Amino acid sequence: MVADHSPRLAVLASGRGSNLQAIIDAVADGRLDARVAGVFGDRPKAFALERARDAGIEARALRPRDFADRDGFDAALFNEVASVQPDFIVCAGYMRLLGAAALEPWAGRIINIHPSLLPDFKGLDTHARAIAAGVAEHGASVHFVTPDLDGGPVIAQARVPVLPGDDADTLAARVLETEHPLMLAVLQLLCAGRITLCDTVVELDGQPLPAPLQLASKRLPA
Ligand code: GRF
Repeated sequence: MVADHSPRLAVLASGRGSNLQAIIDAVADGRLDARVAGVFGDRPKAFALERARDAGIEARALRPRDFADRDGFDAALFNEVASVQPDFIVCAGYMRLLGAAALEPWAGRIINIHPSLLPDFKGLDTHARAIAAGVAEHGASVHFVTPDLDGGPVIAQARVPVLPGDDADTLAARVLETEHPLMLAVLQLLCAGRITLCDTVVELDGQPLPAPLQLASKRLPA
């Protein structure tokens, strides 16, 4: 049972929504003391919106082409987001850059999950680029969102090995398995008020984090 005072989350998603589903399931099971107050996006047909509606959560998408520019779209989208009065905004596979004006009121209250060990491999196609670069480890990062693409302060990371014979799909699947527990672990800390952003520094229990937390990593079997 989710208590009335549980932190309210707004989730932004553009696609399949597996991270959103992990959050919905964790809330339903009582593993995450939060409630998903609304799901918002830029693609009306995104499966993430369907997942939200199936769970009885309000879901709305605006189409970028209906707006003159990115700032106009962001302002309208964040207007919708604000209408559900979230405590935190979670970008979970939201595939558009967010502008400074929209983000400003939400500094320290908006996070994103990115499928790489930031600051490596910002942007798209991270799994193929990790394989091409020959790295031994890849993974996912959860970071506070700033207007810099995948550039905000990193809260936590999950690592996976890159295995011989991996292609972008096998590696993406291995990373995705860690994304869900990573996202949930960060949300638990954030919703409990233990993770905060002080200017550009991530703090845990009021102390600066010297390095991103390492959570939910997958090691090679010994
Ligand atoms: C995930 O790999 C996430 O890290 C990235 O986009 C993908 C979204 O997956 N930002 P899903 O929509 O949550 O299934």
